[in-house]
Formats: sequence, structure tokens, C-alpha cells
Amino acid sequence: MTQPTTVSEETITDVAVARWATAHDPRTAELMTALVRHLHAFARETGLTEAEWMAAIGWLNATGQISNPKREEFILASDVLGLSMLVVEQNHRFDPDATPATVLGPFYIEDSPEMNYGGDMSDGLPGDPLYVHGTVRSLDGTPVPGAVLDVWQSDADGAYEAQLDVDEARLRARYTSLDDGSYCVRTIAPLGYAIPMDGPVGDLIGRTDIRPMRPAHIHFMLAVPGFEPLITHLFREGADHLDDDVVHGVKQELVVAFTEHGPGPTPDGGHRDTPWLEARYDFVLQPT
Ligand code: BEZ
Ligand code: FE
Repeated sequence: MTQPTTVSEETITDVAVARWATAHDPRTAELMTALVRHLHAFARETGLTEAEWMAAIGWLNATGQISNPKREEFILASDVLGLSMLVVEQNHRFDPDATPATVLGPFYIEDSPEMNYGGDMSDGLPGDPLYVHGTVRSLDGTPVPGAVLDVWQSDADGAYEAQLDVDEARLRARYTSLDDGSYCVRTIAPLGYAIPMDGPVGDLIGRTDIRPMRPAHIHFMLAVPGFEPLITHLFREGADHLDDDVVHGVKQELVVAFTEHGPGPTPDGGHRDTPWLEARYDFVLQPT
């Protein structure tokens, strides 16, 4: 007959760690044993009560229940906890001259429509016309042609396609850099916005003095063979909340002036009869 194993407050951690150390894949064993150690340390440090742990489980349940392919509440939770940014930082230690990475966020949608140089991804939506243009290049200055720039942003109300009930791609597109590395995105100026506050993450934020805002920005995901993939944003210079972004995503290198222009020629080789904005930015990619 096997003897019962009696665990105590003192021994439970070692017993659980040893059990999870049997994971067949070594990395899973490393991750799970560290997770058990840190969770137990958290419970010890805080003197976690049963009621508090049940409340936390209720919160995790609610976070899962509200999630779907368009509502990524766990990404949002990771973002506001600063965990997304920490994982980004420790996985993208680029050269200081390369464009830095920042958070993906919960609103990315795959398979955006392809657009030519200067193609309008705002498709007539209301807002201030904006041209974002520049080059994609390597650290040594060499132009990078054929880089795919997957771009997405909020509308003039601060809403993303993923938050709306729409059938067509909205304010997102894929551009490809030309032979000289140049790209040009025609869009509208994004506004800052509050992260979704109608779910468990918002509920938690609402119990703090944390401001739930993000500064105005456009998301970019760049991919081209030979270079590290880059997920980043460009932030509008002078925007509100550059100093207290709720997801810790701002970096000074990513803050770009949106310069006002009167009627006249535009960066796509066209002409506007009304005022427009210009943001110039050269993406510098880290070779693999
Ligand atoms: C975003 O920029 O789309 C975003 C990022 C993190 C949390 C919420 C939104
Ligand atoms: Fe965003």
C-alpha cells in the first residue's frame, strides 16, 4: 500500500515544483516550475485569502468569457499590467539606431488588403487627411525594398475595426516598400482613445487612479526576409497621454511630428485642394 503524502504550508511549494518539473519538454518544465514558485510566493507575501483567490478566479473567468477573436481581453490585461511591454523589451534588444518595438495591442487583424504607394486606407472616412511616408532601411542606411508594412489604426472617434460591427477592412492595409525603400500611407489622423472599459480589465482599472488612455498613434508591423520582424507604433508629437500611456507603449524615438500643410502637392505625387498633415518617418530594421 502506498503511504499518503502529507503536505504542509512549508512543503507544498517544493512538492508542487517537483511535480511540474516532470514536464516532458524542458522549457515547459522550466516555465511551469518558475510559475508555481512565483505564484506561491505571491500567495505567501500577500497572505492571500480564499475569498480573494475566488474573486481572482471569477475575474479570470470573466476575462475568458468576454474574449473572442475580436475581443482580446487577456492581451489587454497583459498590456495594462506592463507584462506585454516587458516581454517586448526582453525579446527585441535592437541596436539603439534601429526603430524600437512596442506592444501589439488587442486590435490587430490579419490579411489586410494590399495597397499601392500612397493608397488611401481611410477610404473616405471623416478625419484630417494624413500622409505617413519615408523609407525602410537597414542599420547601415541601405534601402530595404519589398518590406511589407502592415498598418492599422483607430478612426476619428478612437474606434478600431475590431470594435465595430463592419464587414469590410477599415483603416488597415498592407503596403510594400519600393525599390528605393520608400513607402507612403494615405490615411486620416488617429485620435487618442480609452482602452475598452466595459469588461473585467476596465472594472479593475476603474478601482484605481490609472488613466485608461492611449496617446494618438498608428500601428505598424514590418516584415521582410533578412531582418527582425518589427511591431511598433508612430505616436503623434504633442498628443495627450504621451506621458501616461496606460499600456506603457510610448518611446521617444517613435514620437513623430504631424506637420500641417496648406493646399498643394502631396507626398504621393498628387495634389490636395484642402489642408493636410504629413508625418515623415524612416523605419530602420535590425538585420537578423
Ligand atoms: C492599441 O493600441 O490598439 C492598444 C494597445 C493595448 C491595449 C489597448 C489598445
Ligand atoms: Fe492602438
